[in-house]
Amino acid sequence: MDLITKNPMREPLAPPAPDPAIAAFHARMPAYSPTLLFDVPELAEQFGVRRLLVKAETRRMGLPSFKILGASWATYRALCDHLGYEPEPWRNINELAANVAHLRPFKLVTATDGNHGRAVAFMARLLGFDCHIFVPKGMVEPRIQAIRSEGALVTVVDGTYDDAVDRSAQEASTTCLVVSDTSWEGYEKIPACVIEGYSTIFHEIDDAIDASGLDRPDVVVIPMGVGAFMAAGVTQYRLGGNEAVIVGVEPLDANCCQASSIAGEISHVPGPHESIMVGLNCGTPSMIAWPRVSAGVDWFVSIDDDGARQAMRDLAAVGIVAGETGAAALGGFRALVADDAWPVVERPADATVLLVVTEGATDPVNYAAVVGRGPETVGRVITAVR
Ligand SMILES: Cc1ncc(COP(=O)(O)O)c(C=O)c1O
Repeated sequence: MDLITKNPMREPLAPPAPDPAIAAFHARMPAYSPTLLFDVPELAEQFGVRRLLVKAETRRMGLPSFKILGASWATYRALCDHLGYEPEPWRNINELAANVAHLRPFKLVTATDGNHGRAVAFMARLLGFDCHIFVPKGMVEPRIQAIRSEGALVTVVDGTYDDAVDRSAQEASTTCLVVSDTSWEGYEKIPACVIEGYSTIFHEIDDAIDASGLDRPDVVVIPMGVGAFMAAGVTQYRLGGNEAVIVGVEPLDANCCQASSIAGEISHVPGPHESIMVGLNCGTPSMIAWPRVSAGVDWFVSIDDDGARQAMRDLAAVGIVAGETGAAALGGFRALVADDAWPVVERPADATVLLVVTEGATDPVNYAAVVGRGPETVGRVITAVR
């Protein structure tokens, strides 16, 4: 079952372009390089569109999701604020770690449903800081182990992701920074930096498209948890000359952005949130993301877990590894094309569609169970735009 709604809150938006300092910061991070953008004619043909592009965040700086882009920039900006100055000069993360070593013992904390927490733990390890990550009940062992493998202490909170967020917020102190990707009253600056950090992914997409002479996308499909990543997408695709139809995808039982758009205000979708798209299991939109999400998204699509599983298999069939959450964009697009709402552009046969696959196989055991083979056996060798 799917739920597809047109956003009644859509309004004209003219967001400012992201600061070029963000991409320059990421270029100094270890193992940074743009992730691949794939041109997938098999899927374009299936959906009757001219071109279907997949930005694949299967591996980003050695981690299996895009989240490090937000976590790294937000950690850096939070450190600058804490210090009262920019810890320059530094050319690489070791030099940055040396410039902030006098803060130790120092701790980074966050709540997570998986990827953001691992990214914050990764930053803490690189900077020589301690790390404490709060996760909701029911998180599968491989995801907890992945966070522990970065040297972090992991506490399982007896409740939902939103409960873990509340718990993590209590840790803030003069020697402990909370680096959350969601926001609440009085805690807005760091999550705003997380959103800014995500802008690099969209720059990379534009660069790859321009370098290869392709058209910019007409339809962009982005998965949503608290909507922070979508806020970065809205910024990019509401910039003058870069307009696209924006589609947000959520799990049916954690469709907090869709429910909020229907209600006309931020609304809470109570748990338990038990979708296999765990990165999207959020009950409340981020307060600071919401103004851009509510005014910028065109269509909200909620899908069930079967839709995500099918999308994992479809992406594996074209050689792209996508975890449960990562595959949501394809699941959502498939649901939209099957609905009366389609087409959402005038001439779909001329349209370029962009799907953002936001993670690789973060739970390899479940990946193999769903896809029928391990992620290491899936690989795309052709038609990478870059
Ligand atoms: C892989 C993945 N994709 C998408 C999202 C959604 O991002 P946001 O919560 O900013 O909407 C998340 C969030 O954790 C995620 O882990």
